[in-house]
Amino acid sequence: MDKQKEQRVVDTSVILEDEQRAEITLRPQTLDEFIGQDKLKENLKVFIEAAKKRREPLDHCLFYSPPGLGKTTLSHIISKEMEGNLRSTSGPVMEKVGDLAAILTNLSEGDILFVDEIHRMNHLVEESLYPVMEDFQLDIIIGQGPSAKTIKLPVPRFTLIGATTRAGLLSSPLRERFGIINHLNYYSSKELEQIVRRSSSILNIEIDEEGVVEIARRSRGTPRIVNRLLRRVRDFADVKAQGKITKAVAMHSLDALEIDEAGLDQMDRRILETIIKKFSGRPVGIETLAVAISESVDTITDVYEPFLIQSGFLARTPRGRVVTSHAYNHLGIKNPGTSKNQGEFL
Ligand SMILES: Nc1ncnc2c1ncn2[C@@H]1O[C@H](COP(=O)(O)OP(=O)(O)OP(=O)(O)O)[C@@H](O)[C@H]1O
Ligand SMILES: [Mg+2]
Repeated sequence: MDKQKEQRVVDTSVILEDEQRAEITLRPQTLDEFIGQDKLKENLKVFIEAAKKRREPLDHCLFYSPPGLGKTTLSHIISKEMEGNLRSTSGPVMEKVGDLAAILTNLSEGDILFVDEIHRMNHLVEESLYPVMEDFQLDIIIGQGPSAKTIKLPVPRFTLIGATTRAGLLSSPLRERFGIINHLNYYSSKELEQIVRRSSSILNIEIDEEGVVEIARRSRGTPRIVNRLLRRVRDFADVKAQGKITKAVAMHSLDALEIDEAGLDQMDRRILETIIKKFSGRPVGIETLAVAISESVDTITDVYEPFLIQSGFLARTPRGRVVTSHAYNHLGIKNPGTSKNQGEFL
């Protein structure tokens, strides 16, 4: 983890150490406790009930979304609701087919295998997963050359839950083997406010309604950021305001953390300003932009860009990324022209 990332309060791709503990405390345990994503929840409830009635494991599920929106949380909830054990691993951890075999042979009927960052799986591991997902059977090749033999190893019937921030990087054979595919959306302000209230009450934080609204508004649609900001603001409240979070306390603390009213932090603003100032507001290719702000293309596309696009500050066009007039207004920079490729979504 580099220094810059460590300091970024709104970077949801980096989970801070003490935050992991907090996330466990704050993680909803049941679908009813899980706020928002209503359609997804309703569907999941039906699928879970149906699978339980048939005494079968749930179909394999794929969840994709930007970081911090609840993919891992949902997989925990599913394992609870299905009453199966949860085993967790991640794409890059399984380097060889043998690693996958070791995990699979330790599963029991009805277990849930959670594979985070499933888009980063080695392709040999991925290919050997296909027959497992379809027929609960692992093909293991023993020996080499003409004398090589394939052994078919039965695997207990389990549910695979894959999570990814980059559904576009998933191969179609893998994607097609999931029965349930769901995208998690950014949360609405009302939902974020509910999450602020829920987390405050779990953490015993005193907060008034305006404080709730202020934190929700700056959380960029992301529950992980709600919880992170709430804990930071509580620190300010404890030191400077006898522990109570009000609008003034929330505003003061979030301003001190340089998170503006739209939830943008320094890096977001830097991205927008770079396009406006260095590239005179013209469309910029993602690689060029990455070099200009010294970030990796992956980090930009995974972490920063989705929210900037979602909230209408940035648009993706065939010629590159462009800032919108909304961004000019937000940054208080005069829009030099209303030329078609500068101001608006194309
Ligand atoms: N719907 C929700 N209601 C309440 N809290 C939530 C909800 N979704 C997520 N959270 C909170 O946000 C935290 C982060 O969620 P989670 O770890 O599930 O995100 P993720 O999508 O797996 O992120 P990543 O892509 O980084 O793995 C959880 O620990 C939980 O406290
Ligand atoms: Mg996760």
